[in-house]
Amino acid sequence: MRPHHIHDVLFTADDIARQLDELVVMMAGDCRAADFVMIGILRGSFMFLADLVRGLYRRDIHPRIDFITLESYGAGTESSGRVRVTKDITLDVRGAQVLLVDDILDTGRTLAFARQSISNKGAAGVKTCTLLDKPSRRVVPCRADHTGFTVENHFVVGYGLDYDGRYRELPYIAKVTFLDEAP
Ligand code: IMP
Ligand code: MG
Repeated sequence: MRPHHIHDVLFTADDIARQLDELVVMMAGDCRAADFVMIGILRGSFMFLADLVRGLYRRDIHPRIDFITLESYGAGTESSGRVRVTKDITLDVRGAQVLLVDDILDTGRTLAFARQSISNKGAAGVKTCTLLDKPSRRVVPCRADHTGFTVENHFVVGYGLDYDGRYRELPYIAKVTFLDEAP
């Protein structure tokens, strides 16, 4: 782990809760299928998905829920460029309307891979939702159907997002400032 601090909060827990309410309003129409499945991409999406499903519940939306574990990042902040499934979904999604949920859309590799993988399993439709979007980092053309916040090219942690496995528990999102880097 490089020397760093996380003193700069970008989105407080209240900011996130407000944005989540808006996302739920915008997304509700995509969630009305009889067979509606939400799939969280682990591990970063666990907190976002947990809050999203509670928001959708208040709009009388009752999904089946599953998770897929994908890995592309190594121990640091740079993607290896390859994505692999380390734990696949177990639900049968043939004919289902699927909403894929991830923490952040960065290079686009993870979400593009996940969308293809779920579509290959026979889902009738696949929509995507990420809490954060870093459009300046895109390598693979990829857009999410719904996003909460757009962020600059900063490495961020909290609310599910980690730096080297740490900080996922923070109820807010903070910027990681690396002390061995020129300001
Ligand atoms: P992508 O495949 O490059 O779009 O990366 C998506 C994955 O990289 C996310 O699911 C995160 O796990 C991780 N990631 C990308 N940017 C950040 C960040 O700023 N903080 C923490 N994790 C990140
Ligand atoms: Mg992730």
